[in-house]
Amino acid sequence: MTKEISSLENKIKELKKRHNAIILAHNYQLPEVQEVADFRGDSLELSRVAAKTDAKVIIFCGVYFMAETASILSPDKLVIVPDANAGCPMANMLSAQELRKLKEKHPQAVVVGYVNTSAEVKAELDYCCTSTNAVAVVNALKGKEEIIFVPDKYLADYVSKQTGRQLITWNGFCPTHIKILPEDIRREKKFHPFAKVIVHPECLPQVVAMADAVLSTSQMAKYAKETEAKEMIIGTEVGIIYRLKKDNPGKEFYPASERAICPNMKRTTQDKILWALEELKEEVKVPDDIRQRAKKAIDRMLEIV
Ligand code: 13P
Ligand code: SF4
Repeated sequence: MTKEISSLENKIKELKKRHNAIILAHNYQLPEVQEVADFRGDSLELSRVAAKTDAKVIIFCGVYFMAETASILSPDKLVIVPDANAGCPMANMLSAQELRKLKEKHPQAVVVGYVNTSAEVKAELDYCCTSTNAVAVVNALKGKEEIIFVPDKYLADYVSKQTGRQLITWNGFCPTHIKILPEDIRREKKFHPFAKVIVHPECLPQVVAMADAVLSTSQMAKYAKETEAKEMIIGTEVGIIYRLKKDNPGKEFYPASERAICPNMKRTTQDKILWALEELKEEVKVPDDIRQRAKKAIDRMLEIV
């Protein structure tokens, strides 16, 4: 078994070199994918790497909107997804047409959109944001009367509480994060009374209210390294636990809920990465008119942070 995996890894390495490719993997990816990745990170970090890399080919292991974001930022690169069906249900909860209607209802509003949106939706935004910088982006809009914040109503709730701003939002949510319940946190705290509770802002407000820290996935990785705490209860998709344990062998990490699995993040495997490198498929390409408008919203975000 080990031998088979390592020969697969060697083939991936060889093809990566031949095509001048890099493999980017989101923190929720399967351990076997994280193992062959050149970079692991959250949405913001992966977009930044995609924008800066000299590689000609980007193999993006995550969900579709993340690869689209990479393609928006690096139009001259070949952006490939190992499984084109790996979508994000939250991103699919808001279409560009629906957002245009919402904008018509609030013509004066500034429009902020989470990175978990399609390229067409990003093209309708004034500002993009990620879980790392959503609060900073809204705080930067001090002079603006009305703010639309889409599509995640729970992230919007968190940002609204942090900034003191009322936000016009949408009925979007992450089907994985809402599976983490307050009773899960209470149970884990009973088992591990000294553990810090760290949760993602996509969680239910009742869960967020119970946390010691509310962080994006890479902020969690940083926090886990820097904190004095030896035990942590992790309120996000369970895939991150692999990275946390690997990076911090002396510490213990407990998933708040084993139900918090994003099936789309688990579609990518080493086999599919190999085929993607062999066939250089499926390419993710955003039409130029949409790309240019979407890029403006991402650039405005990057200027703020
Ligand atoms: P991060 O940007 O925090 O990694 O979150 C992305 C995501 O899809 C969370 O579900
Ligand atoms: Fe989308 Fe939720 Fe999966 Fe993140 S965890 S990719 S928000 S469905």
